[in-house]
Amino acid sequence: MKHETKMKQIGVIGYGYWGPNLSRVWSQNRRARLKYVCDLKEDRMSAARINCPHSTITKDYFDILKDPEVTAVNIATNIITHFQIAKDALLHDKHVLVEKPLSASSEEVIELTKLAAERNRILMVGHTFLYSPPVIQVQKLLKSGSVGNVDFIQLTRINLGKVKHDFNVIWDLAPHDFSILEYWLEEEPIWIQVVGKASVYQNVCDVAFINMHYPGDILANVQLSWLSPVKLRSSYIVGDKQMITYDDTHPSEKIKVYDMGVDLVREPDTFGEFQLTYRSGDIHVPRVDNKEPLMEECEHFLDCIEKNQPPKTGPKHALRIVRMIEAAQESLKNSGERVYLK
Ligand SMILES: NC(=O)c1ccc[n+]([C@@H]2O[C@H](COP(=O)([O-])OP(=O)(O)OC[C@H]3O[C@@H](n4cnc5c(N)ncnc54)[C@H](O)[C@@H]3O)[C@@H](O)[C@H]2O)c1
Repeated sequence: MKHETKMKQIGVIGYGYWGPNLSRVWSQNRRARLKYVCDLKEDRMSAARINCPHSTITKDYFDILKDPEVTAVNIATNIITHFQIAKDALLHDKHVLVEKPLSASSEEVIELTKLAAERNRILMVGHTFLYSPPVIQVQKLLKSGSVGNVDFIQLTRINLGKVKHDFNVIWDLAPHDFSILEYWLEEEPIWIQVVGKASVYQNVCDVAFINMHYPGDILANVQLSWLSPVKLRSSYIVGDKQMITYDDTHPSEKIKVYDMGVDLVREPDTFGEFQLTYRSGDIHVPRVDNKEPLMEECEHFLDCIEKNQPPKTGPKHALRIVRMIEAAQESLKNSGERVYLK
């Protein structure tokens, strides 16, 4: 693949809830032109006609794929359709950015990965949080060693969300937290254990409590729900030197670093002789860039096309996340049994 530097013509496929955000970001991008928007539904096409007056609106994504001027497509359709649309796009030699998760099974991800390699095209998944400045900042803090050895991480992603009936809350929300954990810890979990419940639609889990054990004896817990009176996008990391909180909903202080902890000064000789010291030092609020993650993600996709370089959220990363989701599904089906990934 030659280095491609001219303006990229982009097609967004899927203009439901998320597609308009992608279309807005592509319309604002100076290195790209949103040439097409596609959706099967008439009402969504009408909305696209109003919001994207400079783009061609179509019902048939093959109109985009057959246009030789189109460099890349950004797929934001229902999860079950990702595989076929991405496959068709790669077969038409388009670069492909697919919304999370890349596909609905690891076999499908492997097939798409092979196809992208054969056609020398960029295949990337939209794990948006890996382009989010606070998530990147936390990763830097962890890598610097200032937090010490991580003991555990807790992530919460709950709100009164759109309850889906075609796939569950794990397929919908876990790609965010699983990709964040993978990025922060640079490891895959050893095992996953999930309990969940279908409160609205029969057999569609809408609340899930996920436990994971990582190498280095790190525990992680993820709470996901479409049924909550409040919106929480919060997490905390407990290390043996420092603790970090990350609250994605906070307008200005998304990350706080606490110089806090408990140290065991002396092992007891007899019962009752434990000596602990409690550290309760400063709280530091690091400055975080105010960049829009989705914009950063699209810029990165363009960079990868232009420089023919592997994306940060490329197929290998996408496969690890889909495998974690599949393990979570298996545990859910078996009432919370541990499912080992290694
Ligand atoms: N990164 C994020 O933060 C984020 C947030 C929300 C959704 N998403 C992802 O975006 C994708 C879409 O989610 P959504 O909530 O917008 O779903 P949605 O159901 O609101 O929209 C999907 C749209 O795709 C259209 N569609 C389906 N098949 C099509 C086809 N063959 N050709 C053209 N259009 C087709 C549907 O008509 C629908 O309008 C999912 O993969 C989801 O996980 C990502």
